[in-house]
Amino acid sequence: MMEIERKAFLDPWSIVFVKDALSGANFDNVGLFLNGKLIGYAVMSVVIDEADITTLAIDPAFHRQGYASLLLEHMLEHAKKHKIAKLFLEVRVSNAAGMALYKKFGFEVIHIRKNYYPEPHPEDAYVMQLNL
Ligand SMILES: CC(C)(COP(=O)(O)OP(=O)(O)OC[C@H]1O[C@@H](n2cnc3c(N)ncnc32)[C@H](O)[C@@H]1OP(=O)(O)O)[C@@H](O)C(=O)NCCC(=O)NCCS
Repeated sequence: MMEIERKAFLDPWSIVFVKDALSGANFDNVGLFLNGKLIGYAVMSVVIDEADITTLAIDPAFHRQGYASLLLEHMLEHAKKHKIAKLFLEVRVSNAAGMALYKKFGFEVIHIRKNYYPEPHPEDAYVMQLNL
């Protein structure tokens, strides 16, 4: 997961953050494996009936093959089963691929969070929401 984090993000999660997400009681995580190799994952943090997709990435070698869509479909089904009413996420305003993916699944921009991403790659974030 760390390997994909480093390839996919300008500001990859630290190992401590990843371990917390994988072991935390309020996190639901999905890994996507191809021939036994992890090629993508999504992490969702849940608070009662609301959840935040805190990270989602596909190994760059497997982009544009529908794998993020597969992960997201699975996450949305899981969220519905667990009576989650609203899903939120943040995405860099420059992240055209991420924005297009989330819009395809019905997420809408509800807010711009100024300077959400810190140095060394500071940037605003779109906050997106999906009502399930
Ligand atoms: C965003 C990301 C997860 C998409 O993964 P993917 O497996 O390539 O996505 P899919 O093949 O399922 O594509 C689903 C939709 O996303 C959009 N999309 C994906 N990559 C895109 C790109 N490079 N440019 C524009 N739209 C793109 C398209 O709408 C696509 O639907 P379509 O194929 O019907 O046109 C991947 O680019 C990634 O891991 N990026 C780095 C991490 C990241 O930005 N995560 C999201 C923010 S947390």
